[in-house]
Amino acid sequence: METDVLGNVIFTEDQIHQRVRELGEEITGDYRREYGNDTALMVVSILKGGFIFLADLIRHIHLELSIDFMAISSYGESTRTSGAVKIVKDLSDSIYNKRVLVVEDIIDTGLTLSYILRNLISRGPQEIKVCTLLDRTARRIAPLEADYSGFQVGEDFLVGYGLDYLQKWRNLRYICALETTK
Ligand code: IMP
Ligand code: MG
Repeated sequence: METDVLGNVIFTEDQIHQRVRELGEEITGDYRREYGNDTALMVVSILKGGFIFLADLIRHIHLELSIDFMAISSYGESTRTSGAVKIVKDLSDSIYNKRVLVVEDIIDTGLTLSYILRNLISRGPQEIKVCTLLDRTARRIAPLEADYSGFQVGEDFLVGYGLDYLQKWRNLRYICALETTK
């Protein structure tokens, strides 16, 4: 019988916090420089994976901001992307004419996010940027680059700090690899 167990820790709690703080400071600095101190931002988190990262990140962004959530179904119950994406919860507010920052847990093939971005762009925002905690650029299918990216990651399937396998392990404070033992 196959069982899934936690493998190596890939990013510790301290490493994550340090990097999230840096990202927040970088975002704050960039937006202030480009748009001035009074710029307002709408931060959109993709559920469920992005919620813990969002909660930590926004506390390091020193700009006026609001948050909104969107949920899509993409992975089903496996570790592979299906390509088929459905919006299961839409944003509550309009993004028309707003500066939007989309916050993702991980960009893998990029198929999910490219679908989301196409959908959001059709709503007429002033601008859309993307911030992802984890970036697996080697597996990219959709031509897509994050404006802000926390860590490059390899092939290992990762769980913790919001990321799940079969809805489990989102509550880990660190990020670790999933191992399948036989
Ligand atoms: P993509 O469409 O291939 O870029 O898949 C992106 C989505 O798949 C992410 O937002 C995650 O929800 C999920 N995903 C991709 N890789 C992992 C992983 O290593 N662990 C947990 N979820 C993952
Ligand atoms: Mg996700």
